[in-house]
Amino acid sequence: MPTKKKVVLSFLGTTLDAGISNKRWDRWRPTIAMVQHKAFRVDRLELLHQERFTQLAEQIKTDIEEESPKTKVNLHCIDFRDPWDFEEVYSTMFDVVKEYSFKPDTEEYYMNITTGTHVQQICSFLLTEAHFVPGRLLQLSPPKMEDRGKDAGTFSIIDLDLSRYDVIAQRFALQTQESLTFLKSGINTKNKSFNLLIEHIEKVAIASSAPMLLMGPTGAGKSQLAKRIYQLKREQRRVQGAFVEVNCATLRGDAAMSTLFGHKKGAFTGAMNDREGLLRSADGGVLFLDEIGELGSDEQAMLLRALEEKCFYPVGSDKEVYSDFQLIAGTNRDLRNDVLQQRFRDDLFARINLWSFDLPGLKQRTEDIEPNLEYELERFAEKNNLRARFNAEAKNIYLKYAKSAQAEWNANFRDLNASVTRMATLSVGGRITEEIVREEIIRLKKSWKNPSSPSGNTIELYLTEQQIEDLDLFDRMQLESVINVCLQSKTLAEAGRKLFGVTREKKANTNDTDRLSKFLRRFGLTWNSLHTIK
Ligand SMILES: Nc1ncnc2c1ncn2[C@@H]1O[C@H](COP(=O)(O)OP(=O)(O)OP(=O)(O)O)[C@@H](O)[C@H]1O
Ligand SMILES: [Mg+2]
Repeated sequence: MPTKKKVVLSFLGTTLDAGISNKRWDRWRPTIAMVQHKAFRVDRLELLHQERFTQLAEQIKTDIEEESPKTKVNLHCIDFRDPWDFEEVYSTMFDVVKEYSFKPDTEEYYMNITTGTHVQQICSFLLTEAHFVPGRLLQLSPPKMEDRGKDAGTFSIIDLDLSRYDVIAQRFALQTQESLTFLKSGINTKNKSFNLLIEHIEKVAIASSAPMLLMGPTGAGKSQLAKRIYQLKREQRRVQGAFVEVNCATLRGDAAMSTLFGHKKGAFTGAMNDREGLLRSADGGVLFLDEIGELGSDEQAMLLRALEEKCFYPVGSDKEVYSDFQLIAGTNRDLRNDVLQQRFRDDLFARINLWSFDLPGLKQRTEDIEPNLEYELERFAEKNNLRARFNAEAKNIYLKYAKSAQAEWNANFRDLNASVTRMATLSVGGRITEEIVREEIIRLKKSWKNPSSPSGNTIELYLTEQQIEDLDLFDRMQLESVINVCLQSKTLAEAGRKLFGVTREKKANTNDTDRLSKFLRRFGLTWNSLHTIK
């Protein structure tokens, strides 16, 4: 394959390249030194200069023709009014490189960052890093003082494709790993789709300031995640302002508008002073609107405008207020459905739905229960100064149930947190025993019980495996239902009335409690044994 031509884009060094007398050859002039390196043969130099330095540019061109006749020099006169003005330099250079016809198949490009003002050097770097200049950076350095005039000095080539640098790539990987762990509150979660979700969230949190929508059932961790996203952004210096949060379900009537957008003194009865409002407080930071689906329609309209224009009118004010915040919205409702039912504005939904993330409930990530259990014990220890631990068998029993289909985890992490708090509090000398776990499982079952659909398998808590094996399915199902009714009843009599209501009505048999007690006794159970925990 023929070697590619080396093409350098460079600014004329108005001080370092200067000189017309013969003495100039004794000095280190970077643009001349560039063509003197044997290991770096420049085929073409695109030399950028201001009009007032045309003469110097031509002088350099002539000197290069003498020093390295094979190097073709093209002069480009570009005029910056102020070569220290970032905006002007960047946009002018941007136009130049946009116009330039790069042929990367046959030529390789170098952006020389040795000459020019610092602003020009920074712009050269930015344009190369963004691949507007499809090449590498070139840095030239002078030789030692005593070698000036004899030696061209050194050169180095800097490739901005950072993935080529192992150490940097590793640091990036480490940084990303730290961010992911941070978003997961340090919990070593195993569920693949949850981990993937967090990876996406991390990328978006770092790269975007567009609204984010966190969806998921109650207690799935939306509020906690919103706060962590903010902390991550702040740590990475993506935001400077505050984290402002409000649950929209608590905003009602006139107060809703004023809480969010502020008001002017005297705007309504009771408005004794100006009020800033949460949107304004979040300027430069993050506004977390939890339960956004609960927002009234007027507030939705105002919010949309505030997001699009970064401006809004406080209640009773004709002066617009500016606020530039990032919105994170939380919802456990199906907002799409709310849009269809016209309960939520479709234009606002479209605006906040750019990055939407669906947090799974605990039941969808049972492999994460164990690491979360450890996390909750840790949190309990921090709060209460008591480090509780499971006995090995106790932990097995708890996890087996926690991961089973019967464990409903309706309130997700809230349930887990409450459950661990109870067990740790009841622990004896910090030991969570089998007995404590069994009692806790009963409590959980009770708390999740839906009277219209008795959840099966309560039976396992009261009978041994052998006893269950010895039961016919018929007896088993019957016992299961009876136990469920007992657990939902305050007294044996109440349970009896529920279970034998029809025969009692017909007065065929009125002693319900006796019937129930006898039934339970057939399986070695009593009312009290079902109600060791109240
Ligand atoms: N990943 C997690 N691991 C363990 N505990 C968590 C996790 N995320 C949240 N929690 C804890 O669970 C509880 C509920 O979390 P959070 O308030 O964030 O839920 P939510 O999804 O916002 O619920 P809601 O919809 O009711 O507002 C909190 O005590 C929180 O600290
Ligand atoms: Mg919440």
